[in-house]
Amino acid sequence: MTAATDAAERLIRGRHATRAFLPDPVPGDTIEAIFALAGASPSASNAQPWRIEVVSGAKRDDLAAALIAAHREGRQTADFPYSEDVYEPVHQRRRRAWGASLYAALDIDRGAGDLRAAYDERSLSLYGAPHVAMLYAPESGDPRLTADLGMYTQTLLLAMTAHGVGSCPQAMLSFYADTVRETLGVAGGRLLLGVSFGYADPAAPINAVAVGREPLTETTRFHH
Ligand SMILES: Cc1cc2nc3c(=O)[nH]c(=O)nc-3n(C[C@H](O)[C@H](O)[C@H](O)COP(=O)(O)O)c2cc1C
Repeated sequence: MTAATDAAERLIRGRHATRAFLPDPVPGDTIEAIFALAGASPSASNAQPWRIEVVSGAKRDDLAAALIAAHREGRQTADFPYSEDVYEPVHQRRRRAWGASLYAALDIDRGAGDLRAAYDERSLSLYGAPHVAMLYAPESGDPRLTADLGMYTQTLLLAMTAHGVGSCPQAMLSFYADTVRETLGVAGGRLLLGVSFGYADPAAPINAVAVGREPLTETTRFHH
């Protein structure tokens, strides 16, 4: 194993979704370095069809409050429609297994509506993260362009990991796209994803949940 493969193993396997953060902000120059590095992500024809709004400080607090209010009032406005039907049974099985391990760590009973609601609000308060990045795809929302956004997102998450910054990609934030636009005073594009980020709380049990992966043979075939 070379130094590069060893570093890649540690970086890629060292990234996990962080769902409890310390309040300490990430220094501005570190944030800039992270987003500059993320911009090295590949995209078809090098179009770089992403737009990112990074939110911190008082604006972050305004945004979390607005998201929670929109959620309580049932004002969902997703730029990308969502339905559970997009998943095949095998994917649903994996999702259920993941949900069970997450909720076990939270000590939340699946039938307990109030606790589920409490968890949703924790999610919309960015899991306590001091920063969030909102990732916009072009107005067309073409699936091929969202592939570029996926590339960007993983590059961003790895750049954060390399800088010791924890992150949680949150599709849930994209369900309130109008609220995000209004609070930030931005227009254009389609909100695909929010990424909450900051320093992980090392004492939080939710950050210690081990999430496995399917064996290689379940997802990948090699043709000769
Ligand atoms: C596109 C995307 C959307 C996600 N949305 C959410 C979300 O809304 N809330 C959440 O807590 N985690 C969300 N996650 C995190 C996943 O649950 C997590 O990546 C997955 O369970 C694997 O765990 P790991 O990231 O710790 O390896 C999302 C991840 C991706 C890639």
